[in-house]
Amino acid sequence: MTNAKHPAEPFKIKMVEPLNITTTEQRKKALEEAGYNPFLLKSKDVYIDLLTDSGTGAMSDNQWSGLMLGDEAYAGSKNYYNVCDAIKDIFNYNYVVPTHQGRGAEQVLFPLLLEQGQYVCSNHHFDTTKAHVELSGAKARNFLVPEATDTATYYDFKGNFNIPALEAFIEDVGAENVAFFIMTVTNNSAGGQPVSMENMKELKRVADKYGKKIVMDSARFAENAMFIKQREEKYKNYTVKEIITEMYSYADMLTMSAKKDAIVNMGGMIAIKDDEEIFRGAQMRCVPMEGFATYGGLSGRDMEALARGLYEGIDENYLEYRLGQIKYLGDKLMEIGIPIQYPTGGHAVFVDAKKILPDMPADQFPAQAIINQLYLESGVRAVEIGSFLLGRNPETGEQEASELELVRLTIPRRVYTQSHMDEVVEGFKKVMDNKDNLVGLTFSYEPHVLRHFLARLKPMDK
Ligand code: F0G
Repeated sequence: MTNAKHPAEPFKIKMVEPLNITTTEQRKKALEEAGYNPFLLKSKDVYIDLLTDSGTGAMSDNQWSGLMLGDEAYAGSKNYYNVCDAIKDIFNYNYVVPTHQGRGAEQVLFPLLLEQGQYVCSNHHFDTTKAHVELSGAKARNFLVPEATDTATYYDFKGNFNIPALEAFIEDVGAENVAFFIMTVTNNSAGGQPVSMENMKELKRVADKYGKKIVMDSARFAENAMFIKQREEKYKNYTVKEIITEMYSYADMLTMSAKKDAIVNMGGMIAIKDDEEIFRGAQMRCVPMEGFATYGGLSGRDMEALARGLYEGIDENYLEYRLGQIKYLGDKLMEIGIPIQYPTGGHAVFVDAKKILPDMPADQFPAQAIINQLYLESGVRAVEIGSFLLGRNPETGEQEASELELVRLTIPRRVYTQSHMDEVVEGFKKVMDNKDNLVGLTFSYEPHVLRHFLARLKPMDK
């Protein structure tokens, strides 16, 4: 018996894409060929694809019809101005530089904001964000709240920036050695967990005290705003749009991967509240790296879909369904005894693999072992957020043990239904029945940089 209720989809289906059904034998072969790394699977061999929510959403009829209105002028496309109008209306920011995706925005913006050797401080840097901080010559530091790693206990805002730890750090290293702050909403690496408005205000207080700027890493800004509406008493009667405008009043600029909450398959941007000098600098760097300053790697039609997606992503009926769908999957998994990061986040359910395989050492990648078994049992593809992703200590070359070993079941937007969520749960039941037979993994090929994308693994001998 179950109490978990799946929210009804606030849309109906106009076009369908067949799913690929495979046999266990086919999946065994596919996984072996993929070097036991789901990133190397062909999508034709995957049944339900929960690798990421990035660029995998379904566009609406409104977005698809917008594609026909693409103005493909090299400079000054009307679709660029439609994005600018949407950003002004929702975020109240004056300047926009489009980019091909989120990391494009990072590579254009960060070098303008820092000096070599400085620190960039964040509640948590996403992997590409950390990489671009480091490629720009700075050092990335994360300030998670302790609640974030206490997976079993409910807290409203596990994504928060640890402000006392940040202040202590600044006092320790000296304010002149800190470049700027990045507030990631929602906090992907902590489990898609939200940041409270209160915490954003606090960060702004610290930023003003030390004269630092705040960049909002805005991939999942709308999901974060909906959590604020649901969990922060003062905001329960605000609209999500009003909440977003207030959130962004506490920052100076944003980088956005529009592939998440703006529900496009490709796209991103930098937006700036009012600092014209940074805007001019970002425009200038955009030209050689991403493309002319009014298209930044996007076609006119992509920008039109993005402008429309920004509004669809903040629709409250949609957001209620969206967060409800993730919660449904989390609740069903908990009912069969699967430990998860609780409460569920905005875009994914994160299963706590350490609790399922407590004896498997970090360097045998317990979350990856579970992910591979889930694929074999059910054709569901998940992704590891743990030691496999974390990598080696750059100084010692030793594998580092991640604080959390997580299986991320990332739900694309408007793509899968209740039956698909139920299939994932069935797959997990089979994994749990088999968990005592799971073996760890070791490398057969290990790239030097961002190894988890391209590495090849093999099962350890029993
Ligand atoms: N920031 C956050 C918080 C992200 O989650 C991502 C991407 C990026 C920046 C980079 O954006 O992919 O458009 O270049 N996250 C994806 C994921 C890839 O699977 O979580 P991008």
